[in-house]
Amino acid sequence: MSKIFVANWKMNPGTLEEAKNLFAFYIEESQKYPKTRVVVCPPFVYLEELSKQLGVSGPSLVSLGAQDVFWEESGAFTGEISTKQLNEFGVKYVLVGHSERRALGETDEMINKKLLKVLEAGMTPILLVGEKEKSDYREDILIDQLANDFKDVSAEDISKVFVTYEPVWAISSHSGGQSDTPENAVQAISEIKNILARSYKLEAISYLYGGSVNSSNIESFLSHPEISGVVVGSASLKKDEISKILSLTK
Ligand code: PGA
Repeated sequence: MSKIFVANWKMNPGTLEEAKNLFAFYIEESQKYPKTRVVVCPPFVYLEELSKQLGVSGPSLVSLGAQDVFWEESGAFTGEISTKQLNEFGVKYVLVGHSERRALGETDEMINKKLLKVLEAGMTPILLVGEKEKSDYREDILIDQLANDFKDVSAEDISKVFVTYEPVWAISSHSGGQSDTPENAVQAISEIKNILARSYKLEAISYLYGGSVNSSNIESFLSHPEISGVVVGSASLKKDEISKILSLTK
């Protein structure tokens, strides 16, 4: 089964030239692994230029994703970006509910509106859920996040979402951040699956793991059939890591 590699560049790199260079590298390297689904999520300001690099040398295996979106189409929403605007640059995926946005005040209610909008626009939401600190109440936290994030989303639409378990404490930039164990990630994903199965009759969903994934540990996650792919932050900015990660997702 082909695997999914989502690169979350966050607020990097610092210049358009660097972004173009890095993106060109993704396009070139991914040609070697035609089965891997690669989604690169750069900062908004680079989307237009990077979209021009897609499809230049034949059909591209890399897709563009956005790191966020707003739920209205247009209007007086200073600083926000709509799905319509993203669509224009060929954006097919949108990260929704990343913990770094939640930490800046994004609520589950806002995440729910974004999810609904992304689905309505025909794009694939990559929803990120997970607990802030290691906790015995992980399942309760997931129940709460999933119930609120998926409010009024149909079972058919939920099946289109890439549901990502990304415990906040495991993110590399988190103080002391270290990846979760694959066993624990599989356990959390099975909890998510059961929580959703209690409320919806679902088709097979793609479940991803995120949090300090790199070329040294990716195999241990992807060797579990329950994990369809990974969301990668810091390692997604380094060319040697990108090559190795791609070679391990084939
Ligand atoms: P990381 O980031 O791979 O640097 O831990 C992942 C993320 O925040 O999505």
